[in-house]
Order: sequence, then C-alpha cells, then structure tokens
Amino acid sequence: MTAAADRPSNAPVRPPFAGWLGTTNDVTKTFLAAGRIPGLINMAGGLPAPETYPAEALAAIARRVIAEHPQDSLGYGPIEGLPELRDALAARLGGPDFRLGRDNILVTTSGMQGLDLLGKVLVDEGALIAAQAPTYLGALDAWRPRRPRYRALRVDQPDFDAVAGLTGARFGYAVPNFSNPTGRLVPMPVRRRLVEAALATGTWLVEDNPYGGLQFDGAALPRLIDIAAREAAVVAPGAAPSAAPSSAYDGPVIYMGTLSKEIAPGLRIGWMVAAPEMIAALTMAKQGSDLCTSGVTQRIALAAIEDGLVERLQPDLTALYRARRDALCAALAEHLGAWFTFEVPVGGMFVWVVARDPRIDTDRLLNAALDAGVCIAPSSVFDASGDDRSAFRINFTLNPPERLEEGVRRLAGAVRRLTDAS
Ligand SMILES: Cc1ncc(COP(=O)(O)O)c(C=O)c1O
Repeated sequence: MTAAADRPSNAPVRPPFAGWLGTTNDVTKTFLAAGRIPGLINMAGGLPAPETYPAEALAAIARRVIAEHPQDSLGYGPIEGLPELRDALAARLGGPDFRLGRDNILVTTSGMQGLDLLGKVLVDEGALIAAQAPTYLGALDAWRPRRPRYRALRVDQPDFDAVAGLTGARFGYAVPNFSNPTGRLVPMPVRRRLVEAALATGTWLVEDNPYGGLQFDGAALPRLIDIAAREAAVVAPGAAPSAAPSSAYDGPVIYMGTLSKEIAPGLRIGWMVAAPEMIAALTMAKQGSDLCTSGVTQRIALAAIEDGLVERLQPDLTALYRARRDALCAALAEHLGAWFTFEVPVGGMFVWVVARDPRIDTDRLLNAALDAGVCIAPSSVFDASGDDRSAFRINFTLNPPERLEEGVRRLAGAVRRLTDAS
C-alpha cells in the first residue's frame, strides 16, 4: 500500500483500497513481519516444530494417491469436499452420544478458511460477535472486513454469565482447549454454561479446536459439541450408527478442526462440523472463495487418517512439546518472574504472561524485544479494541530448549531496559 509513493506524479489516481484495510493496527503488521528478521528468535507465532513434519510418510502417500486417484487429486472436486473424506471425518468426529453424517461435514482449506466462511454467512456490517476474550488474532483478522462489533466473553471470570454473553449475538466463538492466546482450558462448568446458553438463546456457538490433540497432562475434557449432544438430546432418540451416511446432528455448536498442528500446516486441510443447514450456507460461501479445497491434500489427508498417522505421531509430538513447555516455563520463572505472572498450560502451544506492574506496556515491550532479537505477541493484537497492553503470548513449540532460554534472557534484558527507562 506504499506503492503509490513510487508512482510518477502525473499518473492517474487509482481507486482507494477498501476501508477496512485501514483498520488493522501496526502492531499486528510488525509482529507478523518479524518472523523473517535474520537471527531473531521468533516466540510470537503459533508454529509447530518443523522437524516433526512427517515428510517421508507424506511423500509416499502423495505419490500413491496421485497414482491411484488422479481425477480426485488433480481435478476440481465437490465444494463440500471429497465424499470419502467427509465420511471418514464423520466417523472420526462423532461423539459417544451422537453420530454424524456426510451432510454434517464441510472440508475447508484449513481452519482459517472456516473462520472466513463464518464471517461471510453470519456477519453483516455492525453485527455482534460474542468472542472469548482475549480472542485469537486470526479470527479477528478473518472477520475484520465484515466490520463486526464485539462482546467479550470473559470465561475465566467467576461471575461469567453465558446467557447475557450470547444473547443478541450472531454467534459465540470459543477456543476451549489450550486457547490461543492464553493456553488455558475452559473449565467444565463454563463449557456447560456456554452450551446451555446456546441452546436457550438459539445462538450458534463456534468451538474452534486446533489444539485439542496436544494435551500433555491430565485427561481431555468433553468438547462443546459432545455436551450439546448429551444435554439437549439433539440426536433423534433411538438413532443408531448406520453404515449409510446420513445426517443426525442438528445442534447449535459449530465445531472446527485442522491437521495443521498435529500433522503439518502446509496441507491446509481443516473441517467444520455443523447442522446441515449451516453446512449448506457455508458451502455457498466456499463456492465464492475457492470452489474446492485442494484434491491432492484431501486425498493425502484421507490416506493419513486411514493409516492412523495422527495417532502414530502424537506420543512423540506431545513428549517433545511437553519438554519445551517445561523449558520455557522454567526460564520464564527464573528470568521474568519478578515482573510477570503466568500459569503453566497443560497443552497447546502458548503461555500467557501477565505483567504484575500495570506500568508495563507490552506494545512498547514488543519494540524493545525486537531490538534485543526476540519477538513476542503483545495482548493488544488479541483484543478487538486493540487497547489491552497488559500481557503477551509466548510460544514454546517452535524452538528447542536452549533457544527458548536464550529468547527469555533477551526478553528479560528488554524488560530491564524498558523499566529502567520509565
Ligand atoms: C485458534 C485457532 N484457530 C484456527 C487456526 C488456523 O489454523 P489453520 O488455518 O492452519 O488450520 C489457528 C492457527 O494458529 C488457531 O490458533
């Protein structure tokens, strides 16, 4: 958008860019660009460890699926996704109390497309989104062109009122497992309250679950979609799993998943599970987005699921990330404990680090950190209003322990300079 400055002065005036482009903040641009600075320790992004990508297994699968399914792999496919993949996802994602049919599943070009499609089908200008606060930056980015209003769902507060939170919203949005950015779990009683409120108010409730498979300690909590199925008996009474795919689920929860964090983000394969009327609306929106998700990666995803690749990778992945979490948390306690507090997350990719001293401004800390050769994600980018400067998100999955420790040392130097100067 700076190109205009390079154009000759007698060039005709070009039409303006859409107004929403001016509404994103500089902090977001700064920290997204920072990942490419040589020598910088990037602790800002939600990036998997590249050495965990199963390159050889995927190369073998890719060769096989293109040879065996050239039309599916290389041609255009159905907008909703390849029927075999939708059926496999339906079988995999149903819960103890409900079954899913093909009509409940939309394959997406990863999780980000799902968020974009939700904005397209549910948000007119000025419409209200009730979003778990702090909110995943990518969701705010996906919905920004639609110019929504936001209501913060403060699910961590003891007096959180889910009915008041969802009433009047087009949808509620939550990342119940190892939230991005806080790494926290939404506790079981709050999950129940959210689902009950969605059922009582008729509001769609989006459950974004990219990190559910990355649990290091303890047992998994039920998903919102499981709770909805159980509590509201949204499944036809007596319905039994059948070999023939057909719809059963018709509840208010829209569940989203992705292969990005458990296999590889480059596949760009995600899915949405929802009532058939919602899947039909999302499909209309997807038609105008990309016609269909890549057939090659859909076929690879199907073969990977059938081969049990996710299950095979999971133990090593969680062991690696658990050790990195421990290394990061030890370094945070040692070098930053005087200025900040944090909780040790039991899964996911992030620690949310909160300033003890309200004079610490984490937007300013980002700039000081970049000067010191490390990048973190300040809380302002996870706040719909952009105002919150009290915390930052730090990632532990991308870097090995010694880099994590060095990154935290650099950060401590930046904090010292910032607090000494103020
Ligand atoms: C909460 C959340 N939702 C969705 C996504 C999108 O991931 P992808 O588009 O790679 O599936 C991410 C990625 O970091 C995320 O953290």
